[in-house]
Amino acid sequence: MESSCDETSAAVVEMGEGVRAIRSNIVASQIEVHRLYGGVVPEIASRAHIEAISKITYEALETAGITLADVGAVAVTACPGLIGALLVGVNFAKSLAYANKIPLVPVNHIHGHIAAAYLSNPTLEPPFLAVVVSGGHTQLYRVNGYTDFDVLGSTRDDAAGEAFDKIGRVIGMPYPGGAALDKLAYEGDPNAIKLPSPALAGDTLDFSFSGIKTATLNYLNGMQQRGEEINRADVAASYTHQIVDAITKKTELALKQTGLKTLVLAGGVAANSHLRASLEKLCKKKGVTLAMPERGLCGDNGAMIAAAGYFNFLRGSLANTSLNASACEIF
Ligand code: KG4
Ligand code: ZN
Repeated sequence: MESSCDETSAAVVEMGEGVRAIRSNIVASQIEVHRLYGGVVPEIASRAHIEAISKITYEALETAGITLADVGAVAVTACPGLIGALLVGVNFAKSLAYANKIPLVPVNHIHGHIAAAYLSNPTLEPPFLAVVVSGGHTQLYRVNGYTDFDVLGSTRDDAAGEAFDKIGRVIGMPYPGGAALDKLAYEGDPNAIKLPSPALAGDTLDFSFSGIKTATLNYLNGMQQRGEEINRADVAASYTHQIVDAITKKTELALKQTGLKTLVLAGGVAANSHLRASLEKLCKKKGVTLAMPERGLCGDNGAMIAAAGYFNFLRGSLANTSLNASACEIF
């Protein structure tokens, strides 16, 4: 079960020795509801989760051709995310597990994004380096084991996805702007506008996206004040180029620092075609194996939570009816 932001999702996944199979993965997106406001409205998200969650859970079971009696464990996103949205999934999963005497497994949403790569790459196993880029996170992880993660670097302010959405909105793209900017960037010149890099200088693996956002907004305001015409494709191309370049540079540095030979790219922004191409090029150059979830598993979905839940279940990380949700990462 996944309900941390604006997608309600339930999935049935079969995991075991040599088996990583998605039996169903139902995603009820709220994008249309939030588009009117240009971003996710937390209270509306919580209500929409409540309306959808029961229906999609039974749809997931039906599509998989099973009943609750066949379910070995219920995995649910317990952190991080919008607190009201998370609470809907957590409380629904708790009730479902308790009433049907099924083990309950809490999952960290970001670990779920990484686990999506196991579903699309059947032979993938730790250790590897993971770059998680989503609407709320931009982080580099050393994945030591299926449930063992070290954060090597992260954004000090905004996330890459949030940065894409913000500039997308300002240049008139519908929410969320990430996918639209991805397409538009092909029509522009990536070197047309000089923008600061989100990669922090030096050996750190941290990022900062607030500078590039402000610089782009200042550029757009300046153009408007002077009455000059804005070339939106050039903005999309230059902005995307700098973000992709920064993520690629820090990934290269992390590969060098850790000596790891496998890279996983995950999270909603992993669907970005420029970022995928850039990391493909880097991995080819460095002799590193690149594993990415298929595009349909990059955004928030229940299957990735189930996959991560399986490994937590094996470790014995279970919860009971006292499980609570948290907006921040607590495990
Ligand atoms: O992982 P996700 O579904 O939700 C969070 O956990 O935040 O990521 C959503 C983010 C949004 O910011 C969206 O604009 C971005 O992923 N995104 C993209 C693309 N597709 C989705 N960003 C850039 N290029 C894309 N093709
Ligand atoms: Zn996510």
